[in-house]
Amino acid sequence: MINTEIEKWLRTTDSDKLEELWKLADTVRLDNVGDEVHLRGLLEISNYCCRACAYCGINCQSDEVTRYRMNEAEIMEGANKAAALNYGTVVMQSGEDYGFSTEFISNIVRRIKQETPLAVTLSFGERSYGDLKAWKEAGADRYLLRFETSNPELYNLIHPKLNKDDSRRDRIAILKELKEIGYEVGSGVMIGIPGQSYTSLAEDIKLFAKLDLDMIGVGPYIPDPNTPLGAGSVRLEIASDEQVPNSEIMTYKVIALARLMCPQANIPSTTALATLNKARGRELGLMRGANVVMPNITQPKYRIHYTLYPNKACLTDTAEACHQCMQLRIESIRRKVGQGQGGRKK
Ligand code: 5AD
Ligand code: FES
Repeated sequence: MINTEIEKWLRTTDSDKLEELWKLADTVRLDNVGDEVHLRGLLEISNYCCRACAYCGINCQSDEVTRYRMNEAEIMEGANKAAALNYGTVVMQSGEDYGFSTEFISNIVRRIKQETPLAVTLSFGERSYGDLKAWKEAGADRYLLRFETSNPELYNLIHPKLNKDDSRRDRIAILKELKEIGYEVGSGVMIGIPGQSYTSLAEDIKLFAKLDLDMIGVGPYIPDPNTPLGAGSVRLEIASDEQVPNSEIMTYKVIALARLMCPQANIPSTTALATLNKARGRELGLMRGANVVMPNITQPKYRIHYTLYPNKACLTDTAEACHQCMQLRIESIRRKVGQGQGGRKK
């Protein structure tokens, strides 16, 4: 598909055309990755962050956040829970937290690989090449880093440099490094960021294919009034007919188009989408191209503080509750719970 075709789909409001898109995405999903829905246990191991992302509720400039950092025993307990619930993967995520040393994470990865059958996915932000390499050597399998938008002007506006020595790195370059090091690589964007145009979102979707991503995570931008972007103090002005809405339907379109552009990728139906439609969002994502869900396994006492955006789905649930809930949702749409690690099909 060329950019203008992608943009046409993004702008379509014709419900018959959209039914066609959903059907096509669902067929391509079935043909390429089958009926299994892979479960990834999401463990939010710290909400400390050194970055000032203008959209993000846990950015370093927010003083509304109660900060926490799990210790080794708590992280291992989380990983063991993922294994006990028969998830094939644990995804460890945190803000960009240099309170975690290279060696601390390497040790955790080694332990999880020795003590459980899990695939290990990391999502720790823009760490150095040396860190990424060390963690791969320790046994990590996958890394997630969303590029958020391919428009450099918008990217720079919402990812401000904190000072002239800021170690901020180019995320597209990091994605290439990750591939070269040997990770399965995941990325993605937020949909409907103020200042994000249809043309630039079409460009983002093209980039998923160009980067040959193994995993693609997308979700609606959800404004947090305690952040500069949510409060409107940071803004890229574009014409109103160019602005992508941060809507549920737009999210399904991007999931479906990502599936068409990257037939073999693992694509989650995300928490941000479920936040917009708590009753059916997860299911509709899975019926329109997605094949993965990421049940949260973070202990409730910590997860209530991992507030990337307001009203986050599952914020007060336990791991067991999310487990039950996901299983029922998968069965309700006649799909199967995935077995094994559920890596990219070769
Ligand atoms: N709305 C939606 N998604 C958000 N993220 C961060 N803040 C928000 C928000 N306000 C997403 C980013 C990040 C991922 C971990 O969470 O895309 O990469
Ligand atoms: Fe660090 Fe959002 S501010 S990931």
